[in-house]
Amino acid sequence: MTAILSHPVRRLAGTARVPGDKSISHRALMLGGLAVGETRISGLLEADDVLATAAAMRQFGVSVTRPADGWCVIGRGVGGLIEPSRVLDMGNAGTGTRLLMGIAAAHPFLTFFAGDESLQARPMGRVIAPLAAMGATIHARSGGRLPLAVEGTADLLPIEYRLPVASAQVKSAILLAGLHAPGATTVIEPAPSRDHTERLLAGFGASVEVTATADGGRRITLEGQPELMGRTLVVPADPSSAAFPLVAALIVPDSRVVLPGIGINPLRVGLIETLVAMGGRIAIENRRVESGEPVADLVVETSPLNAIDVPAARVPAMIDEFPILAAAAACARGTTRMQGLAELRVKESDRLDAIARGLGAAGVRVRTGPDWLEIDGCGGPPPGGGGVNVHFDHRIAMAFLVLGMACRQPLTIDDDRAIATSFPTFISLMTGLGAQLETVGTAAC
Ligand code: S3P
Repeated sequence: MTAILSHPVRRLAGTARVPGDKSISHRALMLGGLAVGETRISGLLEADDVLATAAAMRQFGVSVTRPADGWCVIGRGVGGLIEPSRVLDMGNAGTGTRLLMGIAAAHPFLTFFAGDESLQARPMGRVIAPLAAMGATIHARSGGRLPLAVEGTADLLPIEYRLPVASAQVKSAILLAGLHAPGATTVIEPAPSRDHTERLLAGFGASVEVTATADGGRRITLEGQPELMGRTLVVPADPSSAAFPLVAALIVPDSRVVLPGIGINPLRVGLIETLVAMGGRIAIENRRVESGEPVADLVVETSPLNAIDVPAARVPAMIDEFPILAAAAACARGTTRMQGLAELRVKESDRLDAIARGLGAAGVRVRTGPDWLEIDGCGGPPPGGGGVNVHFDHRIAMAFLVLGMACRQPLTIDDDRAIATSFPTFISLMTGLGAQLETVGTAAC
């Protein structure tokens, strides 16, 4: 593992081409594999997590190739996958694992899933319960953890399932299983979570009905056993990756950064709404729709930020953005309060804990509870000067490298490896804007 020192910088400027959306990339490969014929994908994220899904689809007998002009998937049709001859090594990819478990549940063979230490610690019971109710048998380590085996069935039953927490991963696992079941599968979510699966399913030719529930949630009904047709897809740039250069441009002095082609799905823009409410100058230009997803160019300029209370209702729309929001809050004037964050404890790391410790290392005052976080902003550059343990979490690593750019003294992260799971070009992209990220050798654990 390599430690990286992030130096304070005077300004950031330029155009940042952020790689493709991770959530959409996983789903494009999976649905391409379940469609009939050829799916051509441009802008697919070529990062470890998505490459693990591509390898898994190949194990299921799907042709996944990478010609010069993008990615090409030749599907086997709904229910047409074959038994993998090896354990699927999903690395760090929680989304890939949970969604593929839904697909594996609908096939009459055994699929074995393994992952790295972080993935092995993540709860899979939330996916196991609905898939078991549909008729699959799942053998998992105690606590519903990886490694696990899904014993699927060709006779999956459609269900109506009420999600205990708003989770696009669990919703999508059920919908992908339901795709193979006769009749209608319905998922009711307590609050709307990212809807890329629903949009893509409709785009591939499935019938999906979405209605609002009286309590602010959504009811999604999918008709099972459609014939999905291969298609051409453009994956927008990932708003969750764009969040890092975006916040960097806000908190580093005299900066102006353009971020072209960023996905602005309304269920992903919670961070932008929050930063605008804090005083961030973020212009959203050239709004358009690509492959069924709203996209725009963002222009971001350095802004004095003021603390706010982030409404709990906004959490699902910015679930992955709290580490980088914490960096912005550390530079803001006043105390930023965030609540409803229990899910952050079961992400790639315990993010509430990792954020609190990292901010402490940067000399920022922070308080945290079971599901909340309060950050006393420095009203300008935080002290910095410390070392941050990133717990093999890509978003913790990138958030603290960004914070280091705006501190008075440099910040060090202990391990850069996880960045490759979602944003392999992060270091070169940020350096191109003016960041000074120095490799300081191999850190001890
Ligand atoms: C994702 C959903 C979110 C998010 C994850 C990607 C997806 O997880 O944190 O990074 O692609 O469906 P949950 O659905 O578990 O909240």
